[in-house]
Amino acid sequence: MGYFRRDIKTWSKKNSSPVTEADFLVDEFLKQTLLAARPQYGWLSEETTDDLARLNKQTIFVVDPIDGTRGFIRGDDGWSISLAIVKDGEAIAGVIYAPARDELYEAIKNGGAKLNSAPLLKPDKNKERPVIAAAEAVFKKLKNAGIKFECGPHMPSLAHRLVQVSTGKLDIAIGRRGAQDWDIAAATIILEECGIALEDACLGGPKFNREETRHGALAAMLDNSLRAVVNDALIDVYGCLENNADKKA
Ligand code: IPD
Ligand code: CA
Ligand code: CA
Repeated sequence: MGYFRRDIKTWSKKNSSPVTEADFLVDEFLKQTLLAARPQYGWLSEETTDDLARLNKQTIFVVDPIDGTRGFIRGDDGWSISLAIVKDGEAIAGVIYAPARDELYEAIKNGGAKLNSAPLLKPDKNKERPVIAAAEAVFKKLKNAGIKFECGPHMPSLAHRLVQVSTGKLDIAIGRRGAQDWDIAAATIILEECGIALEDACLGGPKFNREETRHGALAAMLDNSLRAVVNDALIDVYGCLENNADKKA
């Protein structure tokens, strides 16, 4: 928080996404603190050079030190720190913390999910039109398919955006193709503990700690009534990683 809404150092990465000195400091702090507590675990973080030794570890930490860096730089409070424990390819515990909003989402497998220590329960489906957060191109496909919906607000952090399906702010949250383990592992277990599935439109439930850390386009949905039409829209817009590597949106 000491770096938020201040004049800080920023760089542009090869994929043209921004990174700041705060991203590196959070990464270093979490790496030292968590690996000191669990030296037997592997480590996968957006800001640490990937060490494939993690593939031989049964359990690893998966960390995005700042998710929503663009928002962080702009002074938007919707950025978060996303941290998961992945065992045998599956997220078994997760924390997403949005410090500027003081929202702490957490879950442990079979232990339920919480928001700021209060149980986070699957919201009732009580809206006439689902609120969907997605890119314009996806909205267009859904409109063409005759779906009536409302467009959700812009939220800079994918992790924070995905778990808004468990708070009732969103009914469907989309992650575009190319999301990485660190963007989605914590959200996967938090949503799962609320009875909400986060699925890759091409491959179904995501698997973590593989050599390839990228995923296809994903959707978290409060209920599955629109799953097929949303998945079709996502595949149309983004393609699948294996056979549509040239499609971008
Ligand atoms: C990004 C954010 C953004 C999503 C991008 C991610 P970063 O992560 O989550 O919402 O659309 O795909 O890369 O770069 O801020 O950690
Ligand atoms: Ca991220
Ligand atoms: Ca990041």
